[in-house]
Amino acid sequence: MTTEPYRPRRSVLYVPASNDKALAKIAQLACDAVIIDLEDAVAPADKVAAREKLAGIFDNRPVALGRRCEMVVRVNALASEWGADDLLAAAKFEPDGILLSKVATPRDILEVGDVLDDNFAPDSVKLWAMIETPKAMLNIGAIAELGRDPASRLNCFVAGTNDLAKDTGVLATPDRRYLVPWLMQMVLAARAGGLDMLDGVANDFRDLDAFARECAEAAAMGFDGKTLIHPAQIDAANRAFAPSPAALTEARLVKDAFALAENNGKGVIALNGRMVERLHLAQAEKLLAKAAAIGA
Ligand code: COA
Ligand code: MG
Repeated sequence: MTTEPYRPRRSVLYVPASNDKALAKIAQLACDAVIIDLEDAVAPADKVAAREKLAGIFDNRPVALGRRCEMVVRVNALASEWGADDLLAAAKFEPDGILLSKVATPRDILEVGDVLDDNFAPDSVKLWAMIETPKAMLNIGAIAELGRDPASRLNCFVAGTNDLAKDTGVLATPDRRYLVPWLMQMVLAARAGGLDMLDGVANDFRDLDAFARECAEAAAMGFDGKTLIHPAQIDAANRAFAPSPAALTEARLVKDAFALAENNGKGVIALNGRMVERLHLAQAEKLLAKAAAIGA
């Protein structure tokens, strides 16, 4: 389980490692993290060249670090012809995370963890896992459980809704009604394992109204943030996954109420006609810490 302070992952932008123009943009973007993609955004013919770009990309890391933007590399599935080399190449640059595609079982995480250990990757290199196959959905509780063991490095789940729709045949409607049960299951499993949970991408990057709605729904479902494909999506995600002004006001009220001498030692109090328990105080404190970390 992660005992580290809250780290915002509201907006997590995929950047194809093969796209120089997009890579050059990273330094100016206000996203909380970038995922340098070696997998689906890169055509097979470009895979090796894309991998070779990592050195240049990580040369610019100080800029990203300066504004606390995490840098994650998504590697091809270990079973593919590129996966093993991707993993070793990524590990060399000590990214904040390595995102594994097509994860199916806990063993997929454990095997990669062993490779990282054998290659002396520091503990700061975490593992993120795509949840995008039917098998990952069926095994999600067991995979998430690894999050309770820091030695596994597992730190974050990323919903891969495009692959999930492709592999299951589920219809991806604008309101995502058929995907929502799986999305909720992902959130539940991530919480059980103490992991962060990021929502999948919205492909229609020109429709920002629909995007803002999808972000609001994802925040309501309990996601920590959203994966993005285009810089135009960053602002809406940053807003949706930050505590709202109303929630912050409420959190301060709860905190102040429990701080009153008359409520000292009480487990439950009444506040404006509603029951408030100490669990709500813990929730309020977490929210306030989150807002402080974001600078909201
Ligand atoms: N990261 C950084 N910069 C990006 C970007 C991204 N993901 N997507 C677009 N940009 C940049 C473009 O390079 C362009 O830069 P410029 O102003 O210097 O010309 C600017 O933002 C505007 O881009 P736009 O013309 O609106 O989009 P596009 O047609 O160039 O690209 C996509 C559209 C979808 C091809 C592109 O956004 C993309 O590749 N996204 C990521 C896809 C991905 O990684 N998929 C795998 C995970 S699902
Ligand atoms: Mg995928």
